[in-house]
Amino acid sequence: MIGALLAQGLAAYDAAALGVFAHGAAGDAVAARQGEVGLLASDLLAELPATLERLQAAARPRRRAGEATVRARETTTRDPEETEALGEALGRAARGGELIGLVGELGAGKTCLVRGLARGLASTPSASTAPRSRS
Ligand SMILES: Nc1ncnc2c1ncn2[C@@H]1O[C@H](COP(=O)(O)OP(=O)(O)OP(=O)(O)O)[C@@H](O)[C@H]1O
Ligand SMILES: [Mg+2]
Repeated sequence: MIGALLAQGLAAYDAAALGVFAHGAAGDAVAARQGEVGLLASDLLAELPATLERLQAAARPRRRAGEATVRARETTTRDPEETEALGEALGRAARGGELIGLVGELGAGKTCLVRGLARGLASTPSASTAPRSRS
């Protein structure tokens, strides 16, 4: 493998380091699947393409903070009506396919928010024209 990496133009040190690391990573992946007992060096060959792909994927630049497609905004509500209204606004803004998770202590207002959310979702044109279940 190190020879192949050298042939691809990697510097000797980089080829050696990546070769050894990928070898180890492939070994870990095979061992995780079938255990270490009876593991042969030749078992790693089939694992290498996926291992190298995984290592390359990990090295690709990630989206930097602030470039996310979801923007966060902090909002405070002062009474249950406002919490419900916030949920309703969220429901109206939803276009389908959103995943909304609620995290909060006991009595934080989750159910209250969901009550508004349900009202907002019911009032969106796409929801009201969607085929209804007959049950
Ligand atoms: N912004 C707010 N200010 C004050 N009270 C609120 C606010 N939002 C909701 N409440 C009230 O807080 C109480 C608890 O709300 P809710 O039942 O929605 O909480 P919950 O997070 O669902 O609680 P649980 O974890 O027990 O299910 C309700 O009486 C609700 O009307
Ligand atoms: Mg609740």
